[in-house]
Amino acid sequence: MADLSIDFAGITSPNPFWLASAPPTNSGDQVMRAFDHGWGGAVWKTLGDPIVDTSSRFGALHVGDQRMVGFNNIELITDRPLEVNLREIREVKRRYPKHALIVSLMVESKDDWREIIRRTIDTGADGIELNFGCPHGMCERGMGSAVGQEPEVLKVVAGWAVEYSTIPVLIKLTPNVGDILEPGVAAVEAGAHGLSLINTIKSITGVDLDRMVPYPVVGGRSTNGGYCGPAVKPIALHMVAALARDPRITVPLSGIGGIATWRDAAEFIALGCTSVQVCTAVMHYGFRIVEDMIEGLSDFLDSRGLKSVNELRGKAIGAYAEWGDLDLNYKVAAQIDTDKCIGCDLCYVACRDSSVHCIHTGEHPLPAGHRAPAREAAIARAKSAGVHVTWVDWDECTGCNLCSHVCPVPGCITMVDDTRGKPFESWNDRIARGTDKVPGGLHG
Ligand SMILES: Cc1cc2nc3c(=O)[nH]c(=O)nc-3n(C[C@H](O)[C@H](O)[C@H](O)COP(=O)(O)O)c2cc1C
Repeated sequence: MADLSIDFAGITSPNPFWLASAPPTNSGDQVMRAFDHGWGGAVWKTLGDPIVDTSSRFGALHVGDQRMVGFNNIELITDRPLEVNLREIREVKRRYPKHALIVSLMVESKDDWREIIRRTIDTGADGIELNFGCPHGMCERGMGSAVGQEPEVLKVVAGWAVEYSTIPVLIKLTPNVGDILEPGVAAVEAGAHGLSLINTIKSITGVDLDRMVPYPVVGGRSTNGGYCGPAVKPIALHMVAALARDPRITVPLSGIGGIATWRDAAEFIALGCTSVQVCTAVMHYGFRIVEDMIEGLSDFLDSRGLKSVNELRGKAIGAYAEWGDLDLNYKVAAQIDTDKCIGCDLCYVACRDSSVHCIHTGEHPLPAGHRAPAREAAIARAKSAGVHVTWVDWDECTGCNLCSHVCPVPGCITMVDDTRGKPFESWNDRIARGTDKVPGGLHG
C-alpha cells in the first residue's frame, strides 16, 4: 500500500488531507473527531479578536437536483474567546501528536501579530497560516484580502510573522487578484515557508426576487460573500498550477477549493500540491468523507505503481504549457457509439447551433470523400429500433468536443485521434518560421 504521509515545510502529517480553516475546525471537539475519522491535519478556524456574525450568513448555488454546487458565506473569523481556542489547540496537539495542527491567524497591528504568534507557538501547534484571503467583513477592517490584494502590504505583514515565528508560516492567498503570482512571489520573498490557496472568491449567489434582496438575506440587506465548493475547483487548480510552474515559488503548496473526492485531491497534487484542504465538502457531507478519500488515493497510487503520494506530486505540471506551444496539427474527431445513443439530439442541436453542423441523423447525404465511420450503423439502428441515431462527418468535425460534454449518456461520445501523422506544429513554431503573424495590435 502506497505511503500517504507527507512533510510540508517540516510539518509532518499521516496523509495529505487537511481540514481548511472554517466552521469544521472551530473547536477542539470537532478537530479531534475529524482526526479520529482519518484527517491527517487541520487548520484551525482563524483566530483574532472574536467577532459577531450575521444571521443568516450562507448562500448556495443549487443546479438541478445537485445541492451546493457552489457555496457562499459572509462569516467572519472565530467568534470564540482566544483563551478558549488556545487551550483547546494545546489539548488537541497533546492528544494527537502525529497529526498536523496549524492555526490560522488574523490580527491588525504589528504588536498584535507578535503577541498572537507567541501565544500560538506556546500551544505546541505545528505551524501558523496567515489569513490574507477573507473577502468580506475583515477586509473592511484592513485585514484579510485587504492585505492579500496588495503584494507590498502582504510582504510587510508576512515579514513580521516570519520574524516572530519559530514554527513554519503558511500564507493563505486570496484569489481576488488579477495575477496570483504577484502575492505568491511576495509571500515567498517575505520568507513564508508554504502557501495555501485558494480562499473564497467574491460573489453573490442569487437574488430573492420577492424581497428584492441578494442572498444571503440579513434582515432587508445583503453583501458580497466568498464563493467556494465544487464550482471553484477549476479556478483553484489554475492558480495552483500557475504557482507550481513558476521557478520563483520555492515553497510547498497546500491546495484548496472544491475538493470533495480523492480524485479532486489527486488532481491538485498532480499540479504540485503537497497537501490539500477541504471545507465545503465537509460542511455538506461530514468528516467521514475522508475515509473514501484515503482509500481512493491509496488505490490510485497502487494502480499506477507509485510507492508514495510524493511521487504523484507535480506529475501534470510539465504538460501545462502556454497556448502558443500547443500542437495545432493535433486533431480529434467525435465518435458516437451507435448502440449507446438514445436519440435525444442534444449533440445534434449543439453542433448545429453552436459549432460546425457535422453531426447528422438518418440518411443525410455524406459528401464524396468524407469519412463517417458510424453512418451506416446509425442508419441501420435507426431503422431497426425506430430511434433517432446521430452520426458524425469526420471531415467536417473540428474536434471542439462540445458534443461529448452535452451528451447525457456516459461513454456514448468519445473523442478519437484523427491527426493522421501530421507533425507537431505550434503557433509559436509558425511565428518563428514566418508562416503565421503576430497580430499588429500586439505591437501597438
Ligand atoms: C463558512 C465558511 C467560513 C470560512 N472561514 C474561514 C476562516 O475563518 N479562515 C480562512 O482562512 N478561511 C475560511 N474559509 C475559507 C475556506 O477555508 C476555504 O479556503 C474555502 O472555503 C475553499 O475551500 P472549499 O471549496 O473546500 O470550501 C471559510 C469558508 C466557509 C465556507
